[in-house]
Amino acid sequence: MQLVFESLTGNVRRLAGRVARQAGLPDALDLRHAVPQGDYLLLTYTFQRGTVPGATSAFLARHSAGLRGVVASGSYHWGDTFARAADLIAAHYHVPVVAKVNKAGSDADVARIVRWVQAHHRPSLSPDMLEAAWTPGSN
Ligand SMILES: Cc1cc2nc3c(=O)[nH]c(=O)nc-3n(C[C@H](O)[C@H](O)[C@H](O)COP(=O)(O)O)c2cc1C
Repeated sequence: MQLVFESLTGNVRRLAGRVARQAGLPDALDLRHAVPQGDYLLLTYTFQRGTVPGATSAFLARHSAGLRGVVASGSYHWGDTFARAADLIAAHYHVPVVAKVNKAGSDADVARIVRWVQAHHRPSLSPDMLEAAWTPGSN
C-alpha cells in the first residue's frame, strides 16, 4: 500500500508524512509528480464549495485502478461541505472513506488511518520471493 496525496497549503502533506512514518511506509507520493505502482490510499483536500481539487480529479481519471480508499481534509469552518471531497471520490470510485479530517488531522485521525493502512497492507512479493515461497506438492 502506497500513500498518494495532493496538498495546496501543506495540511495534507503533513498528515500523509505522519501516517507514512507511523505505518512504516515509504514517503507519500505527490500525485502531481509521481505515479503509484499497485494499491494506494489517496489523501487529498476539499476545495471550493465542497469539490475535488482539479489535479486530484485528473489523476484519478488516469490512475484509479489501484485506488483502495480515500482520506479528505477540510475545515470545520465550511459546515455542510466539510471534507466532502472524500464522499464524492468514494461514491464515484466505490472505495471507502477512511477518514475526514479537519486541517492536518488530530493524533486520533492519524492513528485511525495507520490502523486502516496496516489492515490493508499486502507487502509486494518479488519474483525471487515468490520462487522461494513455492514448494512442490507431495506427489
Ligand atoms: C478556496 C478554498 C476553499 C475551500 N473549500 C472548502 C470546502 O468547501 N470544504 C471544506 O471542508 N474545506 C474547504 N477548504 C479548506 C481546505 O480543504 C483545508 O484547509 C485543507 O486542510 C487544505 O489542505 P492543504 O493544506 O493540504 O491544501 C477550502 C480552502 C480554500 C483555500
